[in-house]
Amino acid sequence: MIKIICICGARPNFIKVAPLIHVFKKNGNFDTLVVHTGQHYDENMSMLFFDELNIPKPDVNLEVGSSSHAVQTAEIMKRFELVLLDFKPDFVLVVGDVNSTIACGLVAVKLGVELIHVEAGLRSFDRSMPEEINRLLTDSISDLLFCTEQSGVNNLIREGIPKEKIFLVGNVMIDTLLQNKTKAEKSNILNRLNLNSDGFVVLTLHRPSNVDNHVVLDGIVNALEVIQYDMPIIFPIHPRTRSNFTSSSLGEHIEKLPNVRLINPLGYLDFLKLMSSAKLVLTDSGGIQEETTILKVPCLTLRENTERPITTEIGSNQVVGTEPDKIIRAYKQVIDDDWQEPQIPPFWDGKAAERIAVIIASENRCGG
Ligand code: UD1
Ligand code: UDP
Repeated sequence: MIKIICICGARPNFIKVAPLIHVFKKNGNFDTLVVHTGQHYDENMSMLFFDELNIPKPDVNLEVGSSSHAVQTAEIMKRFELVLLDFKPDFVLVVGDVNSTIACGLVAVKLGVELIHVEAGLRSFDRSMPEEINRLLTDSISDLLFCTEQSGVNNLIREGIPKEKIFLVGNVMIDTLLQNKTKAEKSNILNRLNLNSDGFVVLTLHRPSNVDNHVVLDGIVNALEVIQYDMPIIFPIHPRTRSNFTSSSLGEHIEKLPNVRLINPLGYLDFLKLMSSAKLVLTDSGGIQEETTILKVPCLTLRENTERPITTEIGSNQVVGTEPDKIIRAYKQVIDDDWQEPQIPPFWDGKAAERIAVIIASENRCGG
């Protein structure tokens, strides 16, 4: 048996580990322990996804909660080390780029356990982004690096990671999307929000560079003010963003906009249905840039860069920045022009987790 610990801690992690856990459990050669760090903990940022995606409850929850980067990372490390020493895995598998990813990765390599990074090699080349630091560090200590797109492979090779550790396998987030698309069709979220299909915009925001910065957030809200006269904007609001609105005058501004609908974060199936029915998506999320590509819904990314360049190359996503004029211009272009259906990136076919399991089994040097 291959003993493996799968780490998850924040919303996008649950969506990424789900297909891996399913494949490991089905395979029969894996003894899998699921560890939730507790980085996200609200029901609708955490346990809801386990129910919806049909994954067993985590075997362990480290319950670290929110704090500064240093405290959160250190607490995860302290608590995870005990779990690792007890379970004695052959591999620790981490996904994405959150604090839980680097914290558990460091614990694993320091104890001589092989580290697997799923979604390796993505780079925004912006080191002011906490995720970029997590990505660089995690990749530099990983033993097996699974990439979603060719840019990831190229970045890793340029950084000196040996080729034999790198595998282009596709995208586990897209595995989850394809596995749940039919189920999501049945969601009644449009009725619940009293929406017509195709006549609204979906918005998500949570990057600190956007929502912790009053000037940037003010600019985005000014753009929303103009867009909402044209089309309703549905805004499932991330807890970080909600608390920033609540603690500033911008909260009052956005609440006064009649066609911006602030709602709580949605479950995965409702959110998938909402996105797939939207005219376009405005976001600063990483994963949503990829999901809209498959859903064939235009995505405007409210950031200065993306670590997922395949989405802009095939044209499903445009990086428009955060200045109001640029956002409004890009919105009008998408609404006025015919939208070219993008090509699907290589290997985004729902089978990434299966490929990963096969490679881990063939790389297992622990005699299991
Ligand atoms: C984290 C990740 C980010 C990822 C995002 C996904 C890091 C450095 N950041 O950002 O890469 O894109 O998750 O959503 O790992 N909070 C709650 N309830 C929760 C969770 C958080 O109220 O369940 C609030 C707390 O006030 C907390 C704040 O949100 O301080 C930020 O949470 P945190 O996990 O530190 O970072 P995110 O912004 O969620
Ligand atoms: N998501 C969700 N409900 C929401 C908003 C997002 O289920 O209200 C899902 C979305 O479909 C994607 C993931 O959460 O699968 C993206 O997470 P997030 O944007 O928080 O993180 P990032 O991808 O930027 O790291």
